[in-house]
Amino acid sequence: MALFSKNKKDEGADISQIPLPAHVGIIMDGNGRWAKKRGLPRKVGHREGAKTFRTITRYCSDIGIRYLTVYAFSTENWKRPEDEVGSLMKLFKSYLEEALADFKDDDIVVRFIGDKSGFSPELQALMTENEECSAERKGMVLNIAMNYGSRDEIIRAVRNICRDVKNGGLDEGQIDESLFSGYLYTAGQPDPDLIIRPSGEYRISNFMLWQAAYTEFVIMNKLWPDFTTEDMDEALRLFAQRNRRYGGV
Ligand code: IPE
Ligand code: IPE
Ligand code: MG
Repeated sequence: MALFSKNKKDEGADISQIPLPAHVGIIMDGNGRWAKKRGLPRKVGHREGAKTFRTITRYCSDIGIRYLTVYAFSTENWKRPEDEVGSLMKLFKSYLEEALADFKDDDIVVRFIGDKSGFSPELQALMTENEECSAERKGMVLNIAMNYGSRDEIIRAVRNICRDVKNGGLDEGQIDESLFSGYLYTAGQPDPDLIIRPSGEYRISNFMLWQAAYTEFVIMNKLWPDFTTEDMDEALRLFAQRNRRYGGV
């Protein structure tokens, strides 16, 4: 169930008949609680969450979403117990080796946003390989946020801008919102129109702080492994009912 009020008249609207967001972000949250509810180890929840990721990514591509950004691992998630971090790294490895190859059929471009250098050389190589293999595809762009933190992203942008000013390639007067956006991991991409957070938490958890200035939020009271294509449709319908004003009237 969505925690935002609905306009009854649009309930059940056909997804092919409503304006879709160009860019959707998803904070894939609730894997641990899903497992706990079943008396299972948290890593089982992550495995189930990875299945949902596959289903929802395919679905977004099928219905014509242009950009999908999924938050898979934050810069703060390293502070979790060693065995949980270890099982997540194993899961990432198997996904990068096999599952992402599936996205070839859907013509999906795979990109990673975040600081790759935090991962093992093996994982880093797999990430680069996936990016290179899919770069020429023409379908949906899938950004996988791994070791991603928006504050870290912003600091990195500031450092690179300072470097370019110092080198003389950039004049201080050229620094504006558009230039700054070009120094972020999402350079050249539209800002997210919609961010969905399952698991019922009302927070952004260091996700796309700059890019989400005018993003619409939908919080769903469903744990990520239980999230279905019907839930996705519901979020899209809620988005279609929003009146985006961008500070205007
Ligand atoms: C999201 O699920 C996955 C990651 C952050 C890696 P959680 O592991 O945060 O699940 P909960 O929030 O504890 O239920
Ligand atoms: C956000 O979820 C990060 C990801 C989903 C990868 P968290 O579970 O880490 O966020 P908090 O701790 O609830 O804010
Ligand atoms: Mg969580």
